[in-house]
Amino acid sequence: MTSQTFSVQEQQIIDAAIEFVKAKLAKDSSGHDWWHIYRVWQTAKKLAQAESADLFIVELAALLHDVADHKLNTGKDACIDTVVGGWLDAHHVDQAIKAQVLQIIHQVSFKGANVATPMSTLEGQIVQDADRLDAIGAIGIGRAFAYGGHKNRLMYDPDENPTMHDSFETYKSSQGTTINHFHEKLLLLKDRMNTKAGKQLAQERHQFMMEFLDQFDRQWWGK
Ligand code: ADP
Ligand code: NI
Repeated sequence: MTSQTFSVQEQQIIDAAIEFVKAKLAKDSSGHDWWHIYRVWQTAKKLAQAESADLFIVELAALLHDVADHKLNTGKDACIDTVVGGWLDAHHVDQAIKAQVLQIIHQVSFKGANVATPMSTLEGQIVQDADRLDAIGAIGIGRAFAYGGHKNRLMYDPDENPTMHDSFETYKSSQGTTINHFHEKLLLLKDRMNTKAGKQLAQERHQFMMEFLDQFDRQWWGK
C-alpha cells in the first residue's frame, strides 16, 4: 500500500478533468453518464492503492476514458488522440504522462468475445478492471438495459442467439439484444480481470448477474 499526494498543479489538472467530463457526459442516458465515470474513478483509486500504481495516471485515465468513446461519438469527436490528447495538451500535461494516458484509453475497451484486450501497464490494468467492474453486477445490469434502450435494441428475442465476435469491427457493428450482450460480454468479464482485488470484486457481481438471468428466463417463460 502506498499513499500518494498530488502537487498543486496535478490537483488542478484532476479538478479540471472532473469539470470537463461532467460537462461532456452530463446528459448521457446510455449508462455512460458522469456517475459511471465517478464510480470507475473511485474503484480505480482503491485498486491503485492496493497495487501501488501511479495514482495521477490512473485517475486521469479513469476520468477521461469515455469522453471520446466510439459507441457515443462519431467523426473527430470519437478520435481519442484529438479529444483527450488535445485536452491534455491544453492543460500542459507532461508528454510522457499524456502518452501513457492515451495508450490506456486506446486499450481499455472490450472488443469482442474472441478478441484479446491486452493492457501493457499496471495503471491500464487497473483502469480496465474498474471500468469492467462497473459493467457487471446490479449497476452493470442497469447500464446494459439503459444502453439497449438508448440504441433502440430489443431487450430479448428468444430466436436470436448470442454471437462470439472474432473482430472489433463485427462487435462494433452488431445490433444484438441486451440479454445477448450478457453472453457476448458481461458474463466473460470475471475471467478477464487483471488485478487480484479486481478478480475478488467481480465474483459477487457475476453471481448476481447469473441469478438475474435465471429469474429473467423463468419469468419470461412463466415457469
Ligand atoms: P467498454 O469500453 O469496454 O465498452 P464502457 O464503459 O464503454 O466499456 O461501457 C460498456 C457498457 O455499455 C456495457 O457494459 C453495457 O452496459 C453497455 N453496452 C455496450 N454494448 C452493449 C450492447 N450491445 N447491449 C447492451 N449494453 C451494451
Ligand atoms: Ni467506461
